[in-house]
Amino acid sequence: MVRICIITLFLLATQLHWSFTHGSSDTVRKAYIVYLGEAPQSKASATELHQNLLSSVVRDDHIAQQSRIYSYTKSFNAFAANLLPQEVQRLQENENVVSVFPSKMRILHTTRSWYFLGMPQSVKRNHQIESNIIVGILDTGIYIDAPSFDDKGLGPPPSKWKGTCQVKRNFPRCNNKVIGARFYNHGFKIPNPRPSPLDEEGHGSHTSSTIAGASIAGASLYGLAKGTARGGVPSARIAVYKVCWEGGCSDVDILAGLDDAISDGVDLISISIGGSSSSYFDNPIAVGAFHAMKKGILTTCSAGNEGPRFYSVGNTAPWIMTVGATGMDRQFRTPIELGNGIKTSGSSINTFAPNKRMYPLTTAAKAANGSLPRNQNPWLCAEGSLDVNKVKGKIVLCKSDLTQDYVKDIGGLGAIISRPQQLDLSFAFVIPAAFIDTNVSIEIEKYVNSTTTPRAVIYKSITVRNAATPFVASFSSRGPNTISSTILKPDIVAPGINILAAYSKLASVTGDLEDNRFGVYNIISGTSMACPHVAGAAAYVKSFHPNWSPSAIKSALMTTASELKIKNFESELAYGAGQIDPVRAVDPGLIYDVSTSGYIRFLCNEGYNMTALRLFTEVPTNCSSVPDIGGHDALNYPSMYLEVNNINSSVSAIFHRTVTNVGSPKSIYKAIVKAPAVLSVTVVPNQLAFSHLNEKKSFTVVIKGPPLNNVTSLSASLEWNDTKHKVKSPILLFWAL
Ligand SMILES: *[C@@H]1O[C@H](CO)[C@@H](O)[C@H](O)[C@H]1NC(C)=O
Ligand SMILES: *[C@@H]1O[C@H](CO)[C@@H](O)[C@H](O)[C@H]1NC(C)=O
Ligand SMILES: *[C@@H]1O[C@H](CO)[C@@H](O)[C@H](O)[C@H]1NC(C)=O
Ligand SMILES: *[C@@H]1O[C@H](CO)[C@@H](O)[C@H](O)[C@H]1NC(C)=O
Ligand SMILES: *[C@@H]1O[C@H](CO)[C@@H](O)[C@H](O)[C@H]1NC(C)=O
Ligand SMILES: *[C@@H]1O[C@H](CO)[C@@H](O)[C@H](O)[C@H]1NC(C)=O
Ligand SMILES: *[C@@H]1O[C@H](CO)[C@@H](O)[C@H](O)[C@H]1NC(C)=O
Ligand SMILES: *[C@@H]1O[C@H](CO)[C@@H](O)[C@H](O)[C@H]1NC(C)=O
Repeated sequence: MVRICIITLFLLATQLHWSFTHGSSDTVRKAYIVYLGEAPQSKASATELHQNLLSSVVRDDHIAQQSRIYSYTKSFNAFAANLLPQEVQRLQENENVVSVFPSKMRILHTTRSWYFLGMPQSVKRNHQIESNIIVGILDTGIYIDAPSFDDKGLGPPPSKWKGTCQVKRNFPRCNNKVIGARFYNHGFKIPNPRPSPLDEEGHGSHTSSTIAGASIAGASLYGLAKGTARGGVPSARIAVYKVCWEGGCSDVDILAGLDDAISDGVDLISISIGGSSSSYFDNPIAVGAFHAMKKGILTTCSAGNEGPRFYSVGNTAPWIMTVGATGMDRQFRTPIELGNGIKTSGSSINTFAPNKRMYPLTTAAKAANGSLPRNQNPWLCAEGSLDVNKVKGKIVLCKSDLTQDYVKDIGGLGAIISRPQQLDLSFAFVIPAAFIDTNVSIEIEKYVNSTTTPRAVIYKSITVRNAATPFVASFSSRGPNTISSTILKPDIVAPGINILAAYSKLASVTGDLEDNRFGVYNIISGTSMACPHVAGAAAYVKSFHPNWSPSAIKSALMTTASELKIKNFESELAYGAGQIDPVRAVDPGLIYDVSTSGYIRFLCNEGYNMTALRLFTEVPTNCSSVPDIGGHDALNYPSMYLEVNNINSSVSAIFHRTVTNVGSPKSIYKAIVKAPAVLSVTVVPNQLAFSHLNEKKSFTVVIKGPPLNNVTSLSASLEWNDTKHKVKSPILLFWAL
């Protein structure tokens, strides 16, 4: 389902829209999440309250009993139920109810990668503490028989662990690596008949092993990307919360997974799932992550695969670490040779080696089905558009990426697919195939035109070095943040293109039913793959600083991130603070910390009121008594972002920030500002002298500039430097006109 995260995303979106719009809206019960507030004292009385609330709005007692899907009582007080619109309205009027939201469906958004991030196998580790770290992963479950989940050398689960292993016939055990596994499947009208934590798709096994997989030598996909596969923290433990099924990931199940993960005692949470939201409140990932943050648990999420479009980034709550995807220095190229001797190459993960020197070649135009309506373009190689007799036994040149199954079905032996964009991505296909540049496709077409016996061969992919890395993946979702215009998102980037990691033997390499290649590794791409790299890096930092707050760990990773070699047009809106550098993040020097009250103040500034805030905090918060210190300034965030809304007004902003010394007790940091000449960026004071650890110092960054009508964005940066540490914050101005 998720092998091609990009395509899946769009396919699922249309299906889901359908499932929520059919049927008459007044008579069809739909799943809603009803929030009541903080975790209750007593689970039993909370469950009773949930049932009483339901009985008070659902007329029929039997239906009231049946309509409840979940009671969430461990980490927050809420329930999910199937409700009619009038029942929702009556619940909203009840004073115990904070808010009611419809449950939506969300979607799932190597060996080399950890080397590439400067963490060789010999990297300094705190094995003892690392093996006490438990990472909670909300995903498609786990294929525990993959070698990456071997528990050799690991002792029993840490004593703080309170979770469980939901054993089923097809999932008979956990072990000392995968210490917990639960599943949640109440978000579907027709639930899976044999539910268990078993991963039948591969995605969850892939993300889990990227974070905490054991070191396994000789891993590869049919010889591709050969090397040692391992997670960022190979000694850490995995706790699996299976919330995604073939049809997607339902909000009611995600919230149940988070409710359990927080109370089970995980140290970090990784979620490679996304979907649209209009606020932090109608998004169970944002709500759950807030409660996790209050318990000291950092939640890391994928930014989404809808780039390079602006305003496409998801999971943007400031207490979440939002991760975009980059390309690594390893690329797959698939050599293609034509009968006239021309050698070129395309992009794909082609595991098939040819067993003949050359094969007949044709183009979609030449092989078009004669009865194709005029308005249909044969070049797309869509179902029915080609003539079986002209394709059989040949390689076909097409101009669409959804052609492989059809070409195979009608007897084609391979496909060369012209694709004008996203050539940074490689996919596996069910037949030998590759994406090529449009100019290459013109060359091939010319050659086919020039001869009566055109021929070609597609070779098995080879790995090549790409010196121009890291770069942001074309598909990685971009800012600006549509929910909070004062917070730069994504926060950070990590490898997410062509990542080799563990997979489920129950899913074929392509996920296609016609594909008979199955393995315990696969190479896939997406911000889904980037997110677990940052979760693993966060766990690595935590193994050196077990008591750091979630925002401290986040700050450490952001302020030590490295610059991208290739600057995208979308700049920091694509890569945030830059690419993670886990080893440097262990010793950041200074951190930008945020407490729970800091986030509450931020929410007040965003216009959320006392009622809405009950979703996040038991302490009644009167936002009128919270000092309003200006929009872009409400949070002690490690990056600085200003949206300019009027092309005629001069640029003016002040950022107030406070840093905490976690480096050398006595140290003097100097402010180093990089900014385009047209901007004036002043830091006051521009020197911070610390005399002890954990000392806090505040400063302001004042930005001034003339009205500018010739730019869309300006990038600057502030770096605090004590000659041992570089604590760098991106500063981005974006003209949102
Ligand atoms: C051409 O398309 C028609 C209608 O889709 C189909 O019935 C026919 O089999 C196709 N012809 C060939 C030769 O593939
Ligand atoms: C196609 O264009 C790219 C740049 O867009 C260039 O690097 C490449 O050499 C061209 N290939 C051919 C066969 O013209
Ligand atoms: C190949 O031949 C077709 C049919 O004659 C023509 O339409 C097309 O433009 C030619 N392609 C190239 C690249 O010359
Ligand atoms: C608080 O905000 C919610 C949602 O934005 C709104 O429905 C409600 O009326 C507000 N309450 C008050 C007292 O302003
Ligand atoms: C909130 O604080 C303001 C100003 O301090 C006060 O006027 C208002 O009555 C308070 N509201 C509530 C509900 O306590
Ligand atoms: C900016 O100034 C120009 C010229 O004076 C004017 O036409 C335009 O409406 C102004 N735009 C805004 C957003 O104020
Ligand atoms: C944009 O305009 C400003 C002020 O008018 C000028 O200083 C700057 O050089 C211009 N930038 C570009 C990229 O043209
Ligand atoms: C900043 O710190 C680095 C070491 O982290 C050092 O090499 C560099 O010289 C410093 N730059 C300045 C201007 O002090």
